[in-house]
Amino acid sequence: MGYLIGIDVGTSGTKTLLMDEAGEILGNGTEEYPCLSPHPLWSEQDPADWWRATAESVKRVIAEAGIDGSEVQGIGLSGQMHGLVCLDEGNNVLRPAILWNDQRTGAECEEITDKIGAERLIDLVCNPALTGFTAPKILWVRKNEPEIYEKTKKMLLPKDYIRLKLTGEYATEVSDASGMLLLDVKNRTWSEEMLSELEIDKDLLAECFESTEVSGRILPEIAADLGIPSGTPVVGGAGDQAAGAVGNGIVKTGIISATLGTSGVMFAFADEVQTDPQGRVHTFCHAVPGKWHVMGVMLSAGGAFQWWRNNLAELEIEQANKVKCDPYDILCEEAEEAPAGSEGLIFLPYLTGERTPHANPNAKGAWVGLTVRHGRNEMIRSLMEGITYGMKDSLEIIKGMGVEVSQIRVSGGGARSEFWRQMQADIYEQPVCTINAHEGPAYGVALLAGVGTGVYGSVEQACEATIKVASETQPNPENSTAYATFYPIYQQLYRSLKDDFDRITEAVG
Ligand code: XUL
Repeated sequence: MGYLIGIDVGTSGTKTLLMDEAGEILGNGTEEYPCLSPHPLWSEQDPADWWRATAESVKRVIAEAGIDGSEVQGIGLSGQMHGLVCLDEGNNVLRPAILWNDQRTGAECEEITDKIGAERLIDLVCNPALTGFTAPKILWVRKNEPEIYEKTKKMLLPKDYIRLKLTGEYATEVSDASGMLLLDVKNRTWSEEMLSELEIDKDLLAECFESTEVSGRILPEIAADLGIPSGTPVVGGAGDQAAGAVGNGIVKTGIISATLGTSGVMFAFADEVQTDPQGRVHTFCHAVPGKWHVMGVMLSAGGAFQWWRNNLAELEIEQANKVKCDPYDILCEEAEEAPAGSEGLIFLPYLTGERTPHANPNAKGAWVGLTVRHGRNEMIRSLMEGITYGMKDSLEIIKGMGVEVSQIRVSGGGARSEFWRQMQADIYEQPVCTINAHEGPAYGVALLAGVGTGVYGSVEQACEATIKVASETQPNPENSTAYATFYPIYQQLYRSLKDDFDRITEAVG
């Protein structure tokens, strides 16, 4: 029996799992690390933390699974996308990694858009310049830290730094590379035009593979430390969204996923390259060779609910501790007491600015429509409704692009609650399903490792063998009608408040 390992280098920690060929998880471990914000808008991490967490979690899952490490057959890597790791000639990390949620690059995004032109950008790399993406970060380092740029010999994405530590190879793969703004997404290769326009030397970048291809093999000294065979193949893997989609079985036309974690992601499979001329959703290469995906990313989805729990749910936390349940369960029960539409109370979930559909770092959260009739229950329910309306924005754009949507698979924290699943079905006006697998990106890349090492014939076959629909929730027509009344008002509110958000940003300084 061969075993597969999936490693997901996330923002709050590295999650590793070990599975057998039938997709059964035998070991599962997460090692956490901090996220640093040395200046407002900055978000950084120390790549040494990722490596420590990877090594620890790999050893832990092998021990937990109680298997002989010599039977590990393949490894897949996933991770937070868009981050920038700068390395010198000796592969030393030159500065903390700049992460996907760092917002320092507004000026560089403008510079790129002015230089290339908004339309041509979509033509060259399928996406607009957004603060989260990697190329603007490269320009920022060049402008603000020329001494670091001068010494930089390689620039890697987070999971690809871990690949370098494991295998000694500078390699990436098409799904994660798509989020750098330097990949010709249509042709799945670095864009010579972009590189030359931005004067970035191609030698700074890693070699780009498909997600299922073997990109390197475990070095002997690393193998000895981790207790796995020297030479174990490491496949390309995928950025966390494409990897999570594989873990959700989003590998054929018509199936899309709605994932409510800290961020909220609506992810659709695409047989052909499909772009939104306004660049509101991202078009990236999928982890399925020769296929693409389209996705909308909300920055604060579950994150907005978490904000409420952390700041305003003292009572619920106390009660949850007493009865030994999750405070979120109590919050959902309170929300359920309010009617669909929260009697006209509407929440805008832009607590950390927004990507889809507004691409505006200045967007802010708001409650509008408050009256004396509203209390705690309506506030909690409207918060959940606002997050779900934000997800519907992405769904509507994706449908408007002509992407087929026949089944929506919900996952993440938002899919755990039956109440929130029902709300999603009602607001999307379509049934939503859950599946048997809940491990997201780490599971997806373990499957990709299985494809790359011949355990499965293809990504589609790997998903068919392991992923099954577990439940289906039908929309409640009465609730859908209530939500359909408030959704257009929700959409209009952003337009009405946009200039005020800018003024508030300026005033805060
Ligand atoms: C995707 C994105 C996030 C990060 C962190 O575009 O920005 O999903 O990958 O999880």
